[in-house]
Amino acid sequence: MASAKPKDAITYLPWRRGGERLQTIAVANFKGGSAKTTTSIYLAQYLALQGYRVLAVDLDPQASLSSMLGVQPEFDLAEGDTLYGAIRYDEKRRPLKDIIRKTYFAGLDLVPGNLELMEFEHETPTALMGRKTGSSEIFFRRVGIALAEVEADYDIMIVDCPPQLGYLTLGAVCAATSLLITIHPQMVDVASMSQFLLMTSDLLSVVRKAGGDLNHDFIRYVITRHEPHDGPQAQIVALLRSLFGNEVLAATVLKSTAIADAGLTKQTLYEIERGQVRRSTFDRALESLDAVNGEILDGVKRVWGRT
Ligand SMILES: Nc1ncnc2c1ncn2[C@@H]1O[C@H](COP(=O)(O)OP(=O)(O)OP(=O)(O)O)[C@@H](O)[C@H]1O
Ligand SMILES: [Mg+2]
Repeated sequence: MASAKPKDAITYLPWRRGGERLQTIAVANFKGGSAKTTTSIYLAQYLALQGYRVLAVDLDPQASLSSMLGVQPEFDLAEGDTLYGAIRYDEKRRPLKDIIRKTYFAGLDLVPGNLELMEFEHETPTALMGRKTGSSEIFFRRVGIALAEVEADYDIMIVDCPPQLGYLTLGAVCAATSLLITIHPQMVDVASMSQFLLMTSDLLSVVRKAGGDLNHDFIRYVITRHEPHDGPQAQIVALLRSLFGNEVLAATVLKSTAIADAGLTKQTLYEIERGQVRRSTFDRALESLDAVNGEILDGVKRVWGRT
């Protein structure tokens, strides 16, 4: 099989090697519309374009990531075709390998989502009361255990979380080796900012109390839909940088009609021809996305000890 390839081609592959562990990046924020899904898909496609083997996991019952990647959540999926199929508590649980789909984008596979994922939120309290499952199978480990089944097939997994602090989000945060918190600076006034911080630390302490290990390689805040010339936004971004220092990515994703329009047509700027959008608009948006994604990849490479 692979013997048809020239020897050099193998050394060019950026795939992780022995000792470099799978990177699972959860993209989360409890705020709706903070560009989690947009961040997830651009990052996943960017990494696939760089030659990594990428698995995108749609943990949101709204399934916008799946529809961006060509899966119609209401029509294309049967029972158990989402991550729920691999983390459910009953005997219908199935291997994740059977749920994963190839996408039209080379190097990028998908675990789709749809409303079925809500079942996990409903069933977990009952499962906790019944204590039918062993401690290693406790709710917040189930996502990680399922993802680990296909660990050997991927270099990086990107998990798009729903905008709630539910059991699915907890599972993703526990499974993750790194976290990206997306922030749209317009909505983050100082009051909701402190609310957000409280919720984050609450979330982490809930998981810790339940015995979850939270040793993230890195946590980064990603400024999205950024309008650098907007005064209030500039103040919020400055505040975030003073609070979180280097945990806020230096690059930001600019607010751009090119990104918004690409979202409507379910194609990203990595997929469409530049000619379809005004050149300067397209280039500026793409540059900001590449800069953000490049910083995240640098973080991954540092974890792998490649720098
Ligand atoms: N950089 C950007 N410039 C312009 N529009 C953007 C940008 N990023 C995201 N959007 C738009 O903002 C909206 C919300 O983005 P997105 O769906 O990624 O957020 P989300 O956090 O995943 O939302 P939800 O909480 O509902 O899952 C979408 O319409 C998207 O196209
Ligand atoms: Mg979303």
